[in-house]
Amino acid sequence: MNISNSRISERTIKYKWSPFSRSQILERDGVVPIVRGAGARVFDIEGKSYLDCHAGLWLVNAGYGRSEIAEAISRQAHELAWFSSFEGFTNLPSTDLAERLVALLKPEGMAKVFFSSGGSDAAETALKIARMYWKLQGQGQRYKIISRERAYHGVSFGAMSATGMPANRNAFEPLVPGFRHAIAPDRYRHAALSESEAATYFADDVERLIVSEGPASVAALIAEPIQGAGGVIIPPQGYLQRVQEICRKHGVLLILDEVITGFGRTGEWFGARNWGLQPDMITMAKGLTSGYLPLGATAVTEKLFEVFRNHEAKGGAFRHGNTYSGHPIACAAALANIDIIDSEGLVANAKRVGAHLLSALKPLEDHAMVGEVSGLGLIGRVQLTANRTARTPLPPALAAGDRIAAEMRRRGVIMRQLPHDVLSYSPPLCLTIEEANELAGVFHEAIEVVYSQIRKDL
Ligand SMILES: Cc1ncc(COP(=O)(O)O)c(C=O)c1O
Repeated sequence: MNISNSRISERTIKYKWSPFSRSQILERDGVVPIVRGAGARVFDIEGKSYLDCHAGLWLVNAGYGRSEIAEAISRQAHELAWFSSFEGFTNLPSTDLAERLVALLKPEGMAKVFFSSGGSDAAETALKIARMYWKLQGQGQRYKIISRERAYHGVSFGAMSATGMPANRNAFEPLVPGFRHAIAPDRYRHAALSESEAATYFADDVERLIVSEGPASVAALIAEPIQGAGGVIIPPQGYLQRVQEICRKHGVLLILDEVITGFGRTGEWFGARNWGLQPDMITMAKGLTSGYLPLGATAVTEKLFEVFRNHEAKGGAFRHGNTYSGHPIACAAALANIDIIDSEGLVANAKRVGAHLLSALKPLEDHAMVGEVSGLGLIGRVQLTANRTARTPLPPALAAGDRIAAEMRRRGVIMRQLPHDVLSYSPPLCLTIEEANELAGVFHEAIEVVYSQIRKDL
């Protein structure tokens, strides 16, 4: 049997339609078949090791190869692989997980959890709850959803309409009506503003949008505490608190999309906790199971649920639910995953190792091709630029970010290139100080190699 990377690559390209990919690029560069993982590392079929500083799409928080999760999955599959939560039934792992999540989300004020199959579904659920919440109170004209430019909330129609990345939306128009986008709170793009001025400026844009639309027409605002796929945008201090105040002032529901920032990523259990936020809903996926199985969840407050309870008392129902809402094996995986994050102190590790990693990458801010290095816990970015003073974008034809990522990959480190000249990191939360040093060292090397190749063209 031929087990080389190139043979698998050929078959992949021939038979598999890969998400968010271009066949021509896959044909040119090949695909890497990853076959095994342990801790923060994965291995390809030829045995080459990679430090996965993207945690397989921002999500393997507990790390690879965790037998406790595999065993929990196996136990549950043997005991009861499936039973639905519809029509008066439940299964034990989904009830246990709902209770566990409500306990974890106590500081954020969540009281009830609705399960789905992933992050897009979790957003879709939240958006449908928001619209129905107002209809139930005789305010059906409150249907608009505010989001931000560069937001990513998923690929289904509602989540995509909330997404603020035109490249992900334009080909699928017409989108769901009623979605509006405020400015992304990226301070790097507004260099003249101090942190507090930036917080006010970006929050004012949210309020301006709500007011211009008419507050009585706005159902909810959906926001990632740190915008991930749009370029790892860590908002200025004070911005999110101000956005929460604005929502309260205008009676707009606040939905936090914690699909990336949940389960320890930022050095707190949830991103909201960094800013003491108490939203009306929180969406989760990814780190909820660390990717061992697909699962999404939408948590809501008691106050919000009360409106639905009253409706149900009059014979109504929230007519929404995926077949796999509360899948018992996925919920068992989530419970084992949360046990690991909790008992191994991975949230505190994300804070400690994240601070070390940030300080190891910060000297890059002196590099001619770097505009900013920022991070919180184990999520962050290196912002590339053609000119540090003017903060000009890199010429796309140079593909500088791709080339740096390719140089890093050659050296056994996976880092992700995002739009807007951003290289992002979000490794497993079990990352060690030595691994953080490896990431930083390889980044320093890779950027030097690429800079020497392209500097004459900048
Ligand atoms: C913040 C955020 N929300 C929602 C989603 C969508 O999740 P899924 O791909 O599981 O549907 C993603 C996926 O990357 C995400 O980053």
